Amino acid sequence: MKNNNEGMLFSDEYQKSLKEQFCYADEDPKYGKRLFFENSGGSLRLKKAAQIKYELEEFPDCPERVRGRGLELAAYVKNGTKEILEIVFGAKSGALVTELTASQTMFQAVGTILENIDWGKNVVTSSLEHPSAFDAVQYHAERTNREFRVVPANQTTGGIDVDEVMKYVDKDTCLLSIMAASNISGNIMNIKEITRRAKEINPDMYIISDAVQHAPHAVIDVEDWGVDVANFAPYKFFGVRGCGYAYVSDRVCSLPHHKLIHKENKVWALGTPAPANFAAMLTVIDYVCEIGAHFTDSTDRRTLYVEGMNRIHMQERGLLHRMLEGTKEVPGLRHIKNVEVYVDTQDLTEKDLIIAMGIKGIECDDCVQKYLEHGVTVFERLNTSPYSKRIVESLGLEAAIRVSPLHCHGRDDVDEFLKITQEIAAKYSA
Ligand SMILES: Cc1ncc(COP(=O)(O)O)c(C=O)c1O
Repeated sequence: MKNNNEGMLFSDEYQKSLKEQFCYADEDPKYGKRLFFENSGGSLRLKKAAQIKYELEEFPDCPERVRGRGLELAAYVKNGTKEILEIVFGAKSGALVTELTASQTMFQAVGTILENIDWGKNVVTSSLEHPSAFDAVQYHAERTNREFRVVPANQTTGGIDVDEVMKYVDKDTCLLSIMAASNISGNIMNIKEITRRAKEINPDMYIISDAVQHAPHAVIDVEDWGVDVANFAPYKFFGVRGCGYAYVSDRVCSLPHHKLIHKENKVWALGTPAPANFAAMLTVIDYVCEIGAHFTDSTDRRTLYVEGMNRIHMQERGLLHRMLEGTKEVPGLRHIKNVEVYVDTQDLTEKDLIIAMGIKGIECDDCVQKYLEHGVTVFERLNTSPYSKRIVESLGLEAAIRVSPLHCHGRDDVDEFLKITQEIAAKYSA
């Protein structure tokens, strides 16, 4: 597949056939027609994911039985665990941590490592991390008396530079946690290179990557990245709320961790699992594999999944390019008077479909309200919120409007957003 700056858009017909598979893609049943460009806060849900979640919740049977309905429910847990590990994470070994949220999986994994290894004087993370990863590392570093180091963001690109990370890592670093992609700037970090270079300094270092924002946009490959931990949240990945998943490597599994004594090291789940959540995630994996099957003849699930995610990624890059540059009929964000695209870079190969922007003279929260009144859902990331203060400030900003469409959106959706932006900027900008 050509790896170009303009991506490769699906045909309109194919894109619409994908959008039809999502619930309420173009309208909210109560609030009416809308463009849902807030997928980073919770993505559009696949109809099949929502349906199976509902259907399976109707059965009272214990999913740990060996016959009848209970056995059927158990199969969703077994297959779901296997497919999330092997197909989504691309893991060849290791185990799955399941919790109510991705944040909880991060705290579990970081705590297990830092509380149990008896070496290492410092830990390193970045200023762009979501609080779940940042705070988990800081909390356990303080508890275990290790120095806590923070790599600053590149304020021009909006990412974390590999060379910068290396300035903070040394032979006494026991844990390095860098997110796979930013939930505010959309930048993709070069995790593979970060891992390679960090392991040159200390081959035993544990490396963690929060992949919550990257998972719905591109392939995760824990083997290729060389990480010990990665996580994602199904509710940001076309699926359902109420669960978070993490891959942990064999060496993390071998450390003491929360588990029932009689269970194997690889079983991190505590208590009865929720088959409906696994079943919903299986529909997400099926969906991505079906996109893959549209473009390749392979029958191997991981190959189909990787192809599907790569096609999604190229579609999203196409949408990102159109958002920024526009067309002859409608100017892109880079060309609309008084619109600012923050940490904008020409090289779109380093971005997921998340844009941080502002309109001069309008406060971000007022602007988000204006968008809502024009039928567009976006979100403001402010330095008054504990979730985004450190992140926006580390990017040199006070606030940003985060615009996050999804691959199932089309050219017409982007053009409509641009026209509305032009209208808001012309009417309200100072
Ligand atoms: C990058 C990133 N990591 C982690 C999280 C936390 O996910 P959860 O709400 O499932 O704990 C989020 C949520 O916004 C996120 O954007």
